[in-house]
Amino acid sequence: MGIQFNSATGVFALETAHTSYHMQVDERGHLLHLYYGRTIGQGNLSALYPRADHGFSPDYYACRRERGVSPDVLPQEYTGCNVGDFRLSCLVVRNEAGAAGADFVYVSHRIESGKYALEGLPSAHAETGDEVSTLCITLRDFVTGLELDLLYGVFADQDIITRAARLRNNGTESLRLEKVASLCLDLPFGQWDLIHFHGRHAMERQMQRTPLASAIQTVSSTRGASSHHHNPFVILCDRDATETAGLCYGMMLVYSGSHRTDIEVDQNGSTRLVSGIHDERFSWQLKPGESFTAPEALLCCTTSGLTDLSQRYQHFVRHNICRSPYRFKRRPVLINNWEATYFQFNTESICRIAEKAASLGVEMLVLDDGWFGKRNDDNSGLGDWFVNEEKLPGGLKPLIERINALGMKFGIWVEPEMISEDSDLYRAHHDWALTLPGRDPAMGRDQLVLDMGRQEVVDYLVEVLSDLLRNNHIEYVKWDMNRNMSDVYSRALPPERQGEVAHRYMLGVYRLLDTLTTRFPQVLFEGCAGGGGRFDAGMLAYFPQIWCSDDTDAIERLIIQHGTSFGYPISAMGAHVSACPNHQTGRTTPLWTRAVVAMSGTFGYELDLGKLSEEECHQVRQQIETFKQLYDVIQNGRYYRLSDPSRQLRYTAWQTVTDTESLVSLVLTHPEANARPLHLCLQGLEEDALYRVESLRIYGTTSTPENGAADADAYAGAVYSGSTLMYAGYTLPRMVGDFPSVQLHLVRV
Ligand code: GLA
Repeated sequence: MGIQFNSATGVFALETAHTSYHMQVDERGHLLHLYYGRTIGQGNLSALYPRADHGFSPDYYACRRERGVSPDVLPQEYTGCNVGDFRLSCLVVRNEAGAAGADFVYVSHRIESGKYALEGLPSAHAETGDEVSTLCITLRDFVTGLELDLLYGVFADQDIITRAARLRNNGTESLRLEKVASLCLDLPFGQWDLIHFHGRHAMERQMQRTPLASAIQTVSSTRGASSHHHNPFVILCDRDATETAGLCYGMMLVYSGSHRTDIEVDQNGSTRLVSGIHDERFSWQLKPGESFTAPEALLCCTTSGLTDLSQRYQHFVRHNICRSPYRFKRRPVLINNWEATYFQFNTESICRIAEKAASLGVEMLVLDDGWFGKRNDDNSGLGDWFVNEEKLPGGLKPLIERINALGMKFGIWVEPEMISEDSDLYRAHHDWALTLPGRDPAMGRDQLVLDMGRQEVVDYLVEVLSDLLRNNHIEYVKWDMNRNMSDVYSRALPPERQGEVAHRYMLGVYRLLDTLTTRFPQVLFEGCAGGGGRFDAGMLAYFPQIWCSDDTDAIERLIIQHGTSFGYPISAMGAHVSACPNHQTGRTTPLWTRAVVAMSGTFGYELDLGKLSEEECHQVRQQIETFKQLYDVIQNGRYYRLSDPSRQLRYTAWQTVTDTESLVSLVLTHPEANARPLHLCLQGLEEDALYRVESLRIYGTTSTPENGAADADAYAGAVYSGSTLMYAGYTLPRMVGDFPSVQLHLVRV
């Protein structure tokens, strides 16, 4: 395992536990991609790519007579620019004469143990005990003097290879980068399905699977955020790959801004994936001596199907991307006042919610939007991070003291990257907002976006937020971002640097987050962007959890959390029990079903608990107890999707498994008349081990003995082998009614 270079053949071999990744420096010094997939050892792969002439695929100048040596046909590790490869390119670079061109050849390489870091950008890190090595291959374009470092981090046991690219202007002329991808991945053979995660506000990360066409398919965001619309994570898999079998490749960007992943199937049936920062309106001035780093991407390959791919990403994101001390800790069960009060609250009403919550076992109160500035609706106040004493007389301190006296922690909402026109901050610094000269800006939620690329804006926010956290006993911060970026223009940059604004924004956000999370390691940070509008590995480097969606409807959440699970761990998914009828969909679901779904996330409440009946309060108490009991198996277990909500309309089921227990959760989404048996084959158990049904809990069913209800207690205590549960399966009792749910808890005996 690790990284080898064979100087005789020019082959680099990156080996992880189950995969090989090979490249070769060819006779002319170009770096060819050879192979990525299941482990193959040290075979000679040159025969895979016979040098044959392809019409209209130009040859390198030196090969103009022999023909058949074209960058348009051979798999490339990272493309040049404008030199004969007509497929997707990684780079567009122009010199001062406006000539676009780069042709990279090998100069040197370095192999080191440990993982490289990227300055100013989030990236994966090695944990103690991880076997990780770094390869840096340096290539040069001898005409412009542009140097390219291709960086590879090989996480042997995780089967993850990280990639990044760094460009350095070692020439004498100024260069202009108009596109810089993080990576190119050529899959010269095979036919693939593309899986990606699309959506909209309040319905994020819906999984969609389509066969690749002989065309270019794009998954992207130009919104200045990774977005609700297309997550920066895609999977290419065998046409017949399933959850449990088949070759799958994943590509996840560690970036939170505008991104673009293109996948092309070319004239020869070869597939190329190119991914990185979106190039629309992007350009970057690279003066001699300056460098530019493209964000990191996480590659994973498995031959064991989608579940294995997901488990690898879930584990990697939690262990090697998240850095927060909270990533392995149980987070406090919280009550958030947003859906309970919206902007209408004061110290007394918040304390009433907190008192009720504390009496039911809730551990933290989160004060959401509206506590600061002149913020009685969403038209004003953003930027003024000073308490609104009309709502909270005496400030935050007396409120926090009362919350703490109840034995609860206190958390708070902020949206630091934004500014309202009606705010003191805007009146003092209107040039800090992104707006176009001479035009009225497009408004999102009546607010503007701060120019986070400006040093003084970030410095200001560091100080204001540090004061807030230093002067108040705040143990949790919900960091929101509630509009996308338009009118992208900075008053602080010269004309030739205006193409840099959107990426400089992200660098500023990362600097701010890095400073605050380092300065306040005891604070639990939760990311949010109108729900899951920035649910990506870049944000997860700072936030161990992100509010999954503004859609809190349990049934819609099944689809959102299912899609999210393909790349991200349960411990990262913010999920709350909210009121019914649900505020987004108007649907009514049983309180317990809402809890079963929210428990497969960070678990909390977001409703006026004072409006619950005695019986419902009792249920809340039990839910919190159940969550605590099942915490380890839910949050630390390996995660299995037992259904696909886009195909299996009757129910959604999922399972988590540790070495000692397993929990199967199921929500019945479409009850049937004269119902067929509800039968599941479990996964991930030890074939020969025995499992006892510790409990079978059925929630929200209106079944009676007459219509087939079973006595759930009668199921407890039965013992089955793992192989029985996985291959013969398990049949659940009949349930009827609107959205009943089940928790089947198995303990290994
Ligand atoms: C966003 C969040 C919500 C809430 C509101 C407050 O929409 O996703 O949870 O915090 O902002 O304005």
